[in-house]
Amino acid sequence: MLRFGIRSTLRQFGIYPDLPSQGGLIPQLSELVWRIWSRDCDRGPISRTGVATELLTLAWAASFQAEIDAAPSTTITAEDTKPLYFTEPRPAELAYLNRVNEYRAVTPSLLQALREFLAENRQTIDERLGHPWRVASVRQFYLRPGEGPEGHPGNKHLDGWPPAIRKLFILPAGATPRTGTTWFRMRDGRETLLDEARPLWSVFENSRVLHALTPGKVPRPTIELNLVPARKTSTDPAYVGINAWYPRFPWN
Ligand SMILES: [Fe+2]
Repeated sequence: MLRFGIRSTLRQFGIYPDLPSQGGLIPQLSELVWRIWSRDCDRGPISRTGVATELLTLAWAASFQAEIDAAPSTTITAEDTKPLYFTEPRPAELAYLNRVNEYRAVTPSLLQALREFLAENRQTIDERLGHPWRVASVRQFYLRPGEGPEGHPGNKHLDGWPPAIRKLFILPAGATPRTGTTWFRMRDGRETLLDEARPLWSVFENSRVLHALTPGKVPRPTIELNLVPARKTSTDPAYVGINAWYPRFPWN
């Protein structure tokens, strides 16, 4: 979540300054516990490149597009979270997120669609990750077109989360330089700019793969899920507020 200035520069060199809410004993303990919890989780095909992209069926693309369009507009706020989750409390960062993304409420019908989608694609995700998982948080938004300073590619950065947590993006209108896309330096060293006009979904290692957002010319519908390692896979996504990213401890 840190994109600006010295923090971003440090992250390019693999140093991850803590969020204000991540300082102190509990967050350090959290990092240690996640590390132990996920010690066998750097496996599966995703461990080769850090990015795994699949085409989304046209039926699912239409369904998710309808979900996003039916959901009321909203904003990310400091309060929209749950205890024991990491959150973004800084006003400047929240203002940045609200400038870049037009958030839509997470509705019960979106969660139902996600349950069905995850159940249908469970085997694919299982195979890509190579370990059990669950969805710790959900949000949906239109990535706004880039104008002014936001039109430039974002800083190359790592998110600095426990590395075994991955992001799953559902992109019912694809991701191209026109709609807004992401640059990656994959774990095998190759650099790539996601450029696929067909509907797709993608799992990526946001704390292992250097990445940079590139806003486009038109709004891009996006559904974001955060996958955490679990003892047992669950395809029932947890919704804990737009500003809740991942739980402090695996059992939260
Ligand atoms: Fe990021």
